[in-house]
Amino acid sequence: MSDALSARPRPQPDEALKDPAVDRAFIGRLVREFYRRVRSDTRLGPIFAGEIKDDWEPHLEKMTDFWCAVILKDGSYHGRPVPAHVKLTTVEESDFDIWLGIFRQTVADLCAPGTAAVFVERAERIARSLRLAMFFRLPAALGPDAARARSADNA
Ligand code: HEM
Repeated sequence: MSDALSARPRPQPDEALKDPAVDRAFIGRLVREFYRRVRSDTRLGPIFAGEIKDDWEPHLEKMTDFWCAVILKDGSYHGRPVPAHVKLTTVEESDFDIWLGIFRQTVADLCAPGTAAVFVERAERIARSLRLAMFFRLPAALGPDAARARSADNA
């Protein structure tokens, strides 16, 4: 982890981060620390507890794969985040601000500033698309029949 990294140009969203301190082992530690904080948050803790119960290890491994794919572009993750979140009916839009706040603080504590900025930028981008999928479903996204029904309602 070196502060000199903050002076390097940021990788484009489709490029791997090149920080020798950031490998799978590091990402695994970051993921564990992030979810340790999430679990003790009074708002997010119960949401995760309700879904994951006490079986955290598979989730932590999956999230390590996810962040390796996002940051190292190593293709480790093959899941589908949108359906996994759309089914979470107790989540409110403002919960994303809490999630991002904990994420920003965790990466700031564990990474060099330039590396933290890359994690945050990518998390914000993904959070934006999850938020859109969960709270701003356009009628067209539900299929042509739903789009027609909605426009008839509004006529
Ligand atoms: C309020 C914010 C969020 C909440 C409450 C939340 C909650 C959850 C929960 C409960 C699961 C487990 C679902 C399951 O195993 O069935 C999950 C999975 C996951 N979350 Fe989130 N999440 C949030 C935001 C995010 C963000 C911002 C990202 C990415 C930057 C993210 C990435 C993922 C991924 C990759 C999975 C695994 C999906 C899969 O392949 O099964 N989540 N989330």
